[in-house]
Amino acid sequence: MSPAKHQAPRGTRDLLPSETSRWQWAEAKAREVLDRYTYREIRTPMFEDFELFARTSGESSDVVQKEMYRFKDLKGRDLALRPEATAGVCRAYIEHNLAAQGRVHRLWYGGPMFRYGRPQKGRYRQFWQIGAELIGTEAPGADVEIIALFVDIFEAWGFENLSVAINSVGTPATRRAYGDKLREWLTPVKDRLSQDSQARLEANPLRVLDSKDEGDLEILGGKGLKGPMPRMLDVLDKESRQHWDDVLAGLEQLGIEHAIDHGLVRGLDYYTRTAFEVHDRSLGAQSALGGGGRYDGLMEALGGPSTPGVGFSIGLDRTLLALEDRSAALPPPIFLYVAATEGTRPFVPGFVRALRTVYAVDHDLEARSLNAQMKAADKAGARLVLILGDDEWKKGEIVVKDLGDGSQETVDADDLVDTIDRKLEPKDGAETFEDDE
Ligand code: HAM
Repeated sequence: MSPAKHQAPRGTRDLLPSETSRWQWAEAKAREVLDRYTYREIRTPMFEDFELFARTSGESSDVVQKEMYRFKDLKGRDLALRPEATAGVCRAYIEHNLAAQGRVHRLWYGGPMFRYGRPQKGRYRQFWQIGAELIGTEAPGADVEIIALFVDIFEAWGFENLSVAINSVGTPATRRAYGDKLREWLTPVKDRLSQDSQARLEANPLRVLDSKDEGDLEILGGKGLKGPMPRMLDVLDKESRQHWDDVLAGLEQLGIEHAIDHGLVRGLDYYTRTAFEVHDRSLGAQSALGGGGRYDGLMEALGGPSTPGVGFSIGLDRTLLALEDRSAALPPPIFLYVAATEGTRPFVPGFVRALRTVYAVDHDLEARSLNAQMKAADKAGARLVLILGDDEWKKGEIVVKDLGDGSQETVDADDLVDTIDRKLEPKDGAETFEDDE
């Protein structure tokens, strides 16, 4: 019996080399912006105590209720693959007492997250995030900086005219008061809500606003309901209101496009005050490219000292899908191909190894004919082929063939590097990806 064929687990994907170059480009661009904002990288484990997520994401959130990759290890520890990284970052902040090293910390992270959702375009069970957390200050300027950083990363990727959806979710007390109003507003149509939303209406009415169910969305639009949907901004306490006004003023000062979204509550429970998201409607249902907000009670909930924080995460899978829709193109990687004859083949390994201290170099490993090597170079997309011909090699010369324009010249080995550099220099007016931005 032949062994069963394996496939990547449902909801996961292989990123093949044809895609990883785009990913590396996107990650590098984001890192450049993060560096300029003086954020420093933190790496936390991909799994943590289940309890960490239950306590921070919220017992009634979908992430904890339905989407957690929860497991026991061989010693019976209750663990979970991280559905997001903010909780782990805060856990690490407390565990290593980063507060002792300075009051304000600017941190970023990137890596896979895991949520057991129903897979569809833009939603995976393993997906990548890049995120940033600004920990240690309540100042509205911190929210403004985080949103500016968020937008600047998208702009570095080539997005234009982004509008940030923004709301304030107040404090736990205002949220409770708002939840009561929302429940009251929705109760007359309770029976028409989806099963999930009916349950949410009891446990945590704000979650109903997060529903993706079409019927629910229609109801939330106010159809058949008395009066418009209650707004969180109308029940904010004085300090949160002032904070909100200051954040909006800061965004205006920087000219950051934003639109107030009264239905924006976020899917995780740890938020206080500012909450924001960016959407790309071309992606359909899974349109949120990233989101974040303030979480002033999270550190305390984890048993740490009261420490405010604000941050965001961007979903890279969706962002790259959206960029594909905008047909962003990457330049082909530039590399050289060394081709040899029967006679010069023994010199190839040493020659290639020396070249590889400076350039990306490919070559034939199978003693194929010169003709086959030239075809292979062309197929692989090499820019230059360095041909080690018998006669030339004896004279200390190398033939440099430019596959771009077909030109060919024979150069002295001493001049090889200069020749390669000259030929690889971008031609005036040539379009590069950088120019496309
Ligand atoms: P989140 O909104 O749950 O926030 O996730 C952020 C982004 O991750 C989403 O906007 C989306 O692009 C992407 N994402 C989430 N789930 C999936 C999925 N199943 N497949 C593909 N992409 C997905 C957070 O995770 C918070 N930690 C953000 C934050 C940081 N708040 C404060 N600091």
